Amino acid sequence: MSEPLIRCRDLTKHFRMGSEVVRALDGVSLDIARGEFVAIMGPSGSGKSTLMTMIGALDTPTSGDIIIDGTALAEASPSALADLRGRTIGFVFQQFNLLSRLSALDNVAMPQIYRRDAVADLRGKAIDCLKRVGLGDRMHHLPSEMSGGQQQRVAIARALVNDPLILLADEPTGALDSRTGAEVIALFQALNREGITIILVTHDAQVARAARRILRFRDGRIVADDVNTDVWTPAPSAA
Ligand SMILES: Nc1ncnc2c1ncn2[C@@H]1O[C@H](COP(=O)(O)OP(=O)(O)O)[C@@H](O)[C@H]1O
Ligand SMILES: [Mg+2]
Repeated sequence: MSEPLIRCRDLTKHFRMGSEVVRALDGVSLDIARGEFVAIMGPSGSGKSTLMTMIGALDTPTSGDIIIDGTALAEASPSALADLRGRTIGFVFQQFNLLSRLSALDNVAMPQIYRRDAVADLRGKAIDCLKRVGLGDRMHHLPSEMSGGQQQRVAIARALVNDPLILLADEPTGALDSRTGAEVIALFQALNREGITIILVTHDAQVARAARRILRFRDGRIVADDVNTDVWTPAPSAA
């Protein structure tokens, strides 16, 4: 069997809060293969976002190992970590985190500024990504001129612009109504079919059913890791 794309071994993350220690992650071991679509559920405070920040190399664990695409994060150089964050991984959040004064196109072109081997045709790449998420006709709109679902699709286009292997989406439908959320989920499924590995945190059991594999967290641990044999495939957006 080939190496998993993501491997976590005995991960812990402790936060000191005054005299107390919060065990946000309390011994998480997990392998995710290339091309998987994994949903993570669990009560608020169970460690879901903490795991995402660890896998995304945005913070370091207290103990344990993370290997992403063959790179052990604990041993990686600063430039390898920057590459991983900027290129191997795309992030999507609940609050779209778009820059309000920039058009959709400029929001999507932004991450490429941080890329060392900048793509030759920045705008062309950003335009392609906006078309991919069904926003070819909204490129010059400001975030305030778009619906929540459209803003989230801009954020997804921004996450795609450096051709990531992995999309980490932390409650991406949490700020959307269920119909708009379903459109965003259909988009994630289409991207997964194109080969992108997706990890999606959600409170919504219906949204989790879009994934082939569902993990459940409680108190910083994985308490269930199930194959979902009843995958929900919402109709794609009419854009
Ligand atoms: N930066 C931090 N400082 C202190 N405690 C934190 C920090 N980040 C998360 N925590 C705590 O770790 C636990 C897990 O948080 P989190 O991963 O955000 O949970 P979830 O995403 O499942 O709601 C919670 O008790 C939370 O308060
Ligand atoms: Mg969270």
